[in-house]
Amino acid sequence: MDITTNYMGLMLPTPIIAGSSGMTGSVKQVKVLADNGAGAVVLKSIFEEEVMNEYADFIQTAKKKYGESRYFDYDGQRNPIEYYDYVIREENLKKYIELIEGSKAAVDIPVIASINCFFYSVEWLSYAVNLQRAGADALELNMFFPPTDFKHSREEKEALYFEIAEKVTQAVSVPVALKISPYFTNLGPMIQRLSETGIKGMVLFNRFFSPDFDIDKMEVKPSFVFSSPTDLSLSLRWIAVMANKVNCDLAASTGVHDAAAVIKQLLAGADAVQVASCLYKNGLQHLKTLIDGLETWMTAKRYSELSDFRGKLSQERSADPAVYERAQFMRYFGGKKNVIL
Ligand SMILES: Cc1cc2nc3c(=O)[nH]c(=O)nc-3n(C[C@H](O)[C@H](O)[C@H](O)COP(=O)(O)O)c2cc1C
Repeated sequence: MDITTNYMGLMLPTPIIAGSSGMTGSVKQVKVLADNGAGAVVLKSIFEEEVMNEYADFIQTAKKKYGESRYFDYDGQRNPIEYYDYVIREENLKKYIELIEGSKAAVDIPVIASINCFFYSVEWLSYAVNLQRAGADALELNMFFPPTDFKHSREEKEALYFEIAEKVTQAVSVPVALKISPYFTNLGPMIQRLSETGIKGMVLFNRFFSPDFDIDKMEVKPSFVFSSPTDLSLSLRWIAVMANKVNCDLAASTGVHDAAAVIKQLLAGADAVQVASCLYKNGLQHLKTLIDGLETWMTAKRYSELSDFRGKLSQERSADPAVYERAQFMRYFGGKKNVIL
């Protein structure tokens, strides 16, 4: 049985990618993921946001340790950011490059480096070039400009997606994937237009932190960090809708917890499937369970390769394409079809 897949021009031995998370943040774990059948790994993102948080602490510590005189002069003024640029950014990048180099030496599967793009920075370009130089087989840009930012318009935020995707794809020769959220005003056409920027893959979708309340302590607390199997439906619908409507490969992400979910995403038309939460919940060996389940199902259905069934239930090939466009809950009720619940 052949379960290899071509994702962004990279040959993956299995269609299941270990998605970017803490699980892909060390060479040791990357090796275990590969040993358990991951088709590729997306390394934990190099986190610009984290770097910015570190910056505030760093400046305080540096002031105490060295005094103001250690800061570089810039335009005749002392500028701690210059110091931060040289020290913290370099330190973070160095650690990340070691992660790429170590992972590349440890495994044979593709190693995809990931950059979190949560606000615009000229740094994306230099990061991208450095990560390619370190040996990354591809780059994934995790891009999200918060809708809670009231200072910038929709047009400005959307334009950034195109600007960054175009600049990064021009700066590197390795394939670039864009990982996005579903929060766009006009999602289908937006995904289609983004797929035409020169990127080779899109990851639908990332999942974000959401706050919850503790009503006894009267505090804000994090809600569930991990997805649940019921979260699958959003990415499943959009992979099915966008399959064959985009100019790049598609990787499904969010809510894939078992082999059935992997199979569904492939039937929807995904070129690869990413998993994160299920590895936290069940351990890294869970990858093996997913692969076994996929192979068992393929044997029962007499499929010998993924292309035998990939996209069979996509909107384009579905017997009932309208089902993907339906928004209201419908049910068959007393012989009458499509009664709104
Ligand atoms: C603990 C944790 C850490 C994550 N860190 C990252 C990250 O650094 N970069 C990124 O692009 N996605 C990150 N993600 C998102 C996952 O890659 C994935 O897109 C999301 O969790 C949905 O997939 P899942 O349902 O399989 O978890 C993280 C997810 C979790 C649960």
